[in-house]
Amino acid sequence: MAAILSVSGSPSATSRTARLLRHLYERLRLQGHDVTVLDVRTLPADALLHADLRHPAIVQATAQFEQADGVVIGTPVYKAAYSGLLKALLDVLPQYALTGKTVLPLATGGSTAHVLAIDYALRPVLSSMGAAHIVPGWFTLDKDITVGVDATTTLAPAAADALAQITDRFSTAVGGPTTVLTPAG
Ligand SMILES: Cc1cc2nc3c(=O)[nH]c(=O)nc-3n(C[C@H](O)[C@H](O)[C@H](O)COP(=O)(O)O)c2cc1C
Repeated sequence: MAAILSVSGSPSATSRTARLLRHLYERLRLQGHDVTVLDVRTLPADALLHADLRHPAIVQATAQFEQADGVVIGTPVYKAAYSGLLKALLDVLPQYALTGKTVLPLATGGSTAHVLAIDYALRPVLSSMGAAHIVPGWFTLDKDITVGVDATTTLAPAAADALAQITDRFSTAVGGPTTVLTPAG
């Protein structure tokens, strides 16, 4: 259906944000989308911090944005805003890297006090990068994302329902079906 890039902006090796994104992209894949993952923490720190636009990893990340119809951007809330790691990536992308793209912003955080971080901090940046359509985003509390002993991720029922709706709205906006297709077999 559509080419979707799923970007995780958490520096954590055990990131809840990355787990949340994985939960989402499984749903998007079942809806027929072609989902590619970009974990910003795997990019070379030197290239990001020195804005080395010619570094192969930065060139490849830029190409991943170019090729996407839709972009899911997930970030932990750090100090009442999005992560510095995510900003480091956004800063090395071309000014209008999101032109013509549909974008779904997502955040995880420890306190509902910062539930508006997506709207007052992240959304203006995405907008300045030319995003054609930024669909309503969603904030998920970290305590609603649990990891089992078998490493499976479970979302609290209310959070899972809300994310399913948000994901389906994004899927429709980017040009896909709203219902999850059940795999055969
Ligand atoms: C350095 C740091 C700063 C944080 N600042 C906030 C904050 O301002 N507001 C908030 O709600 N949560 C804050 N948190 C909690 C994280 O946003 C939350 O645990 C998030 O789910 C972590 O996501 P991650 O596991 O993907 O890194 C902070 C966590 C860290 C490590």
